[in-house]
Amino acid sequence: MQTHWWHSAIAYQIYPKSFMDSNNDGIGDIRGIISKLDYLQDLGINVIWLSPAYPSPLADEGYDVSDYYGVDPRFGTLADMDELIHECNKRGIKLLLDLVASHCSDEHAWFKDVIKNGKTSPYYDYFYIVDVPADGTLPTNWRSYFGGSVWSPLVDENTGEGDKNKLYLHSFLKKQPDLNWENPAVRAEIAKNINWWLNRGIAGFRIDAIINIKKAFPFKDYPADAPDGLSNISNMLEEAHGIGEFLTELRQKSFDPHNAFTVGEVFDIDTNHISEWIGENGYFSSMFDFSATIYGAKDGFWHNKEKLTAEAYKSCIFGAMESASKAGAFLSNKLENHDEPRCPNYYLWEGENEGENADKSGITDEGKKMLAGIYFCLRGIPFIYQGQEIGMENTEIIAIGDVHDCSSQGQYYSAIEAGLTNEEAMYHIRRLSRDNARTPMQWDSSAYAGFSKGIPWLPINPNYKKINAAAQLNDKNSIHAFYKQLIALRKNPNYAQALIYGDFTPYLPNQKNLLAYTRTSKERIGKKTLLIAANFQNEPQTMPLTSPIKKILINNYEDIKTAENAISLNPYQLLILKL
Ligand code: NOJ
Ligand code: CA
Repeated sequence: MQTHWWHSAIAYQIYPKSFMDSNNDGIGDIRGIISKLDYLQDLGINVIWLSPAYPSPLADEGYDVSDYYGVDPRFGTLADMDELIHECNKRGIKLLLDLVASHCSDEHAWFKDVIKNGKTSPYYDYFYIVDVPADGTLPTNWRSYFGGSVWSPLVDENTGEGDKNKLYLHSFLKKQPDLNWENPAVRAEIAKNINWWLNRGIAGFRIDAIINIKKAFPFKDYPADAPDGLSNISNMLEEAHGIGEFLTELRQKSFDPHNAFTVGEVFDIDTNHISEWIGENGYFSSMFDFSATIYGAKDGFWHNKEKLTAEAYKSCIFGAMESASKAGAFLSNKLENHDEPRCPNYYLWEGENEGENADKSGITDEGKKMLAGIYFCLRGIPFIYQGQEIGMENTEIIAIGDVHDCSSQGQYYSAIEAGLTNEEAMYHIRRLSRDNARTPMQWDSSAYAGFSKGIPWLPINPNYKKINAAAQLNDKNSIHAFYKQLIALRKNPNYAQALIYGDFTPYLPNQKNLLAYTRTSKERIGKKTLLIAANFQNEPQTMPLTSPIKKILINNYEDIKTAENAISLNPYQLLILKL
C-alpha cells in the first residue's frame, strides 16, 4: 500500500461562524481563527477543515455559496484567508476548505442571470430547469433534505422576476439550486475553482454532498413515504449511476496535479463499492465513516430515528473497519461535526437516564474520554470537531421558534404533520438539532464564553462557566488534556505504526457493552500489539486477557484493577494497553 502524508493526519474541523469572533460583531471570523492557531498547534492537530467562509447569504450557513472565489465580508477578506493559509503552513498545519459544488446559492451570479434572462442565459443549463407540468403537478415527488418538494418556481420571490412556468431543482433549500453536473461547462467551472484555491496554498478539500451530483434519469416518481405524499430523495439517488465519471475527471484535472488531500462527505453508498471511492485509485483520499450517524435513520425523519446503543455503535465501527480494510482504504473517523449533536449526548444515553436515574448518566468526563479513546485508535484519520476536545454538550432548546437551524425546522414540521405533539416533536429537535454543534466555542468563563464581546449570533450554551477551554488547559485530568494524550500517542514513533497502519482486530466482540479491539503493527522486528478496551456501560465488567499487559499507555481512570488474566473495568473505563 502506498503511504501518504495524510495517513498520519489528525484533523480539526472549524465552523467559522462559531469559532472565534475578532471584531465583536457576534460572528466568528478568519482573524479569530488566526488568533487561535497557537491553541490548535498546542493541541497537536496538523490538519484543519474549515467549513465554508465564501460569500453567501448564509441561508444554510455558508453551504449556499454565492461566489466561489472569495470570502464573505462577515468572515473577513481574501487577504485574511491568505494569511490564514500562511499562518497554518508556518505551524505545519495543512488547511482544507469545503468544496460545496453540488449546489450553489440562488444569489450566485449564474442563477441570477438565469432568473433575468431565462433560456437565453449562458447559465441556463447550469441548473436543472423544467416546465411546470401541464396538469399543474410537480415533475417528481422527491422530498428535499430540509423538507418540502425539491422543485420551486424559477422566480425571485423578492422582485417577482423570473418565469413562473418553470421549476428548478434543489435537493436542499430553495435557496440552494442544484448545479447540473451533466453539463461539461459546470464541471469545468468547478475544476477551475478547485485549482485556483489549491494554487493559493491549501492542501485539499472536504467535499460536500457529493452523492447528490448525479441524478437518475429519466426523472420519475418514487413511492410516497410520508403524509406529505413525497418520497425521500435517497430513493432516486439509489438508482443514479455513473458518478464515477465526473469524479475521475475532477481528480485528474484538479486533485492529482496538486497531490491534494480530499475527504468526501459520502452517504448512502454500498460498502462493497468503497474501493471505487477511496481505494488505491479511488476518487478521494478518504471519506467519513457515517455508519453511527445514519444508524436507525430509516426514512430520514428524526422522529423515527432510533437511539444508538453501545452494541449498535460497536457493530457500526467494526463493520466500517472491515469494509475499509478489505478495500485498502483509509476512512476518516469522527464523533461530531457541524451537522450532528454533541457526542456525549448522542452516544452516552442521555434521555434514558433522566429523572431518578439521572446520576447514572454516562455524560461524565470519563464517558467523554472513553468515546475519544475508542474512535481515535481506529484505522483512519481522526477528525475532532471544535469544542469536542473540551467535552461540549448539546445546548438548551426550549421552543421551535428559538431554533436557528433550517434542518430542525423542516424536521419539526414533518413530526407535527406525522401526528406528534409539540413536546414530542421538540424532544427529537433537542436530541438531533444542528444548533447543538453550532453554539459558539466556549473559550473561558467570561461573558459570551470569551467567543465575542458582542451578542453571539447563536446563544452560548448555558453550561459555559463549567465547560470551557481555559478551565481545562492547566488541568492534567481534563478532557482537553486527554485529547492531547491521545494525539501524542498517535504521534509517538513507538506506536504510530500500530495505530496508523496496524491491523484492526475486534477483541471479544460478543461480550456485551465491551467495545474492544487490537491494532497490530506489521513490522517483522519490534511488532507491537495495542489493545483498546472500553467498558461502554454504567456498571463494572470484567474483561479476560489473553496475553499479559506490558504497559498501560492511556487510562481514563487513575487505577486499573487487574485480577488473574483479567481486568475489572470501571463504568466507562477506557484503556489503551501495550500487550
Ligand atoms: C452537508 C453539510 O455538512 C450541511 O451542513 C449542509 O446543510 C448540506 N451538506 C448541504 O450543503
Ligand atoms: Ca466577527
